[in-house]
Amino acid sequence: MPLVPMRAILEATEKYNYAQGAFNVNAVAQAKAVIEVHEMFRSAAIIQGADLANAFMGGRADFANGTLEDKKVGANNIANAVKKYAENSPIPVALHLDHGKNIDSCIAAMDGGYTSVMIDGSSLPFEENIELTREVVKLAHPRGVTVEGELGVLAGVEDHVFSATSTYTNPLDAVEFIRKTGVDALAISYGTKHGANKGAGAVLRKEIAIATKECLRHEGLFCALVSHGSSTVPQYIVKEINALGGTLTDAHGISKEQLKEVSRLGIAKINVDTDIRLAVTRNLRELFWYNPELRTHASIAPIYQLLESRTSDFDPRVFLPPIMPTLMYGDIPDEDVAKVVACIEKGVREVVGTLIVEFDSVGKAPLVEQVTLEEMAERYRKAGI
Ligand code: G3H
Ligand code: 13P
Ligand code: ZN
Repeated sequence: MPLVPMRAILEATEKYNYAQGAFNVNAVAQAKAVIEVHEMFRSAAIIQGADLANAFMGGRADFANGTLEDKKVGANNIANAVKKYAENSPIPVALHLDHGKNIDSCIAAMDGGYTSVMIDGSSLPFEENIELTREVVKLAHPRGVTVEGELGVLAGVEDHVFSATSTYTNPLDAVEFIRKTGVDALAISYGTKHGANKGAGAVLRKEIAIATKECLRHEGLFCALVSHGSSTVPQYIVKEINALGGTLTDAHGISKEQLKEVSRLGIAKINVDTDIRLAVTRNLRELFWYNPELRTHASIAPIYQLLESRTSDFDPRVFLPPIMPTLMYGDIPDEDVAKVVACIEKGVREVVGTLIVEFDSVGKAPLVEQVTLEEMAERYRKAGI
């Protein structure tokens, strides 16, 4: 079926009180596997391409230096893959821009076929964040595209850090931000952190989500709360990576128990990228560890060399540039590359499958309304948002 606006999926989470995982992809094979595993569990799917993922998928191995042109190309590549697999799928799929840097990035994503965009103005002063986010809403809603904003900065990982220096989201500010911008979703800062080093025993300040939701109910406002930086950093995967030649240190995530709890308390969308990176890296290391003959096979030997020289890395974008056309378009030129693609797909299935169950979106696909972008645009128009 055609891609749905992310709002349709978020509305179902609100109505039926569960959370939807949102999974980052940086390769065609990842988009394919994310859709397949959601299909298996009869869950709707939110696939995310980050601003830098778009640059990478635009052919920039040095994605941090990607230009707007690269991002446009990459957004198209991701959207083409997601549309292709979603078209033949019975589950609703939304494609969301993660951490959109500016208005141009959001436009590039929407033009490429994304049905939802995040504008990350969290580093700006409150009023400027409102202004920028409002601009994006004005561009996106007439196209039926969902918008996520962010308020508060994801840095602190300690529950007791709640002082003048705290960057946690203030629920009162959140309500004002939502009212003034008209965003459909809001990323809050409440104790999570991006990456694999979140600190041992990170405690979520769930009261921030509870208070914000309660205020929104009183105000009659819809807005889905988003938990970024929510990877669980499975310790068994960390141990496996290190036993296979990796050198990860101090790797800790958010406990599944806490994520399960907040998914019942108003968190609607839970962002996960790092766990996928870790599982794919483990699989790549394992492939060469147990099949030493592959270390010298021409098409994938450079991947092995990168794994050997970059032992503390776990972002597959560090290791996989030697097969860039495979990542960007899904080409599989030989059976060695097919083995690498299998590592990517298996890693996604392992992590995403586990979290679909934990977040309780299993079987919820039929509860998501099949709304088109045009219909959604009309709803926004009538509601004046
Ligand atoms: O929240 C950020 C995501 O993990 C995306 O990472 O910007 O390196 O693609 P990236
Ligand atoms: P992790 O680094 O915890 O996977 O967070 C991903 C994320 O927030 C993407 O927006
Ligand atoms: Zn994030």
